[in-house]
Amino acid sequence: MAVGIFDSGLGGLTVLDAVTKRLPDLPVVYFGDNANAPYGVRDADDIYDLTTAGVQRLFDAGCDLVILACNTASAAALRRMQEGWVPEGKRVLGVFVPLIEALTERQWGDNSPPREVAVKHVALFATPTTVSSRAFQRELAFRAIGVDVEAQPCGGVVDAIEMGDMILAEALVTSHVEALKRRMPKPEAAVLGCTHYPLVEEVFRAALGPDVAVYSQPDLVAASLDDYLTRHPERKGPGQDSQFLTTGNPKSVSNKATQFLRRKIEFQSADL
Ligand code: DGL
Repeated sequence: MAVGIFDSGLGGLTVLDAVTKRLPDLPVVYFGDNANAPYGVRDADDIYDLTTAGVQRLFDAGCDLVILACNTASAAALRRMQEGWVPEGKRVLGVFVPLIEALTERQWGDNSPPREVAVKHVALFATPTTVSSRAFQRELAFRAIGVDVEAQPCGGVVDAIEMGDMILAEALVTSHVEALKRRMPKPEAAVLGCTHYPLVEEVFRAALGPDVAVYSQPDLVAASLDDYLTRHPERKGPGQDSQFLTTGNPKSVSNKATQFLRRKIEFQSADL
């Protein structure tokens, strides 16, 4: 009964951490495509090819359900995968919808027409590819009306985190927040639309100030997965073991993962 978590690299560990805290008995197979990260500057075809290869590896590891814990892959590839690639009996879910449901105060699967919501000015921080896809705005428009979204492409942040250069990552976050605030001085809510960003969430919060509600994905995705598996227990696939797979160098990826999660993590080579 394993569930797969896919990410371009280390960022999805923030989702994995929240999932394992909420569902400690659930075996999880994590796949990080570290050799090809960051995805946020790649084109949609490239991201589709890489994402389908990684998700197939998770299916092969005994997962029937895979969470794309990567906003960039969710934005650039998920719809195309769901429309023509996902095999019978398998399911691939993204990370935008739980976030937008929280922002718009909707229950899971509430497909009623879009309506006015309390929040009116939303700052979106994401990778350049996620921002240019406008996938967030599209999903939001299905659920809410009258919400003004100002999006900031946060170039460089994922690379800095993947390299383990947290000082650079923090400096970049501060400058991206300042750039956004020049265009939207008083956002009510900020969406951290990249799974790497919870690793620098405190820097976002400090730069945004105390009046901005920050929506971060890991706990929202974990709650949504818990809810989904309660309603679809058959989606816990046949796999029995938790594993960490990477296309990168297992030793250096394990070291960085251990540093991020502050517990020992051992990655194996993914052999695609
Ligand atoms: N962590 C991913 C995301 O949520 C992708 C970052 C990247 O590879 O550029 O967007």
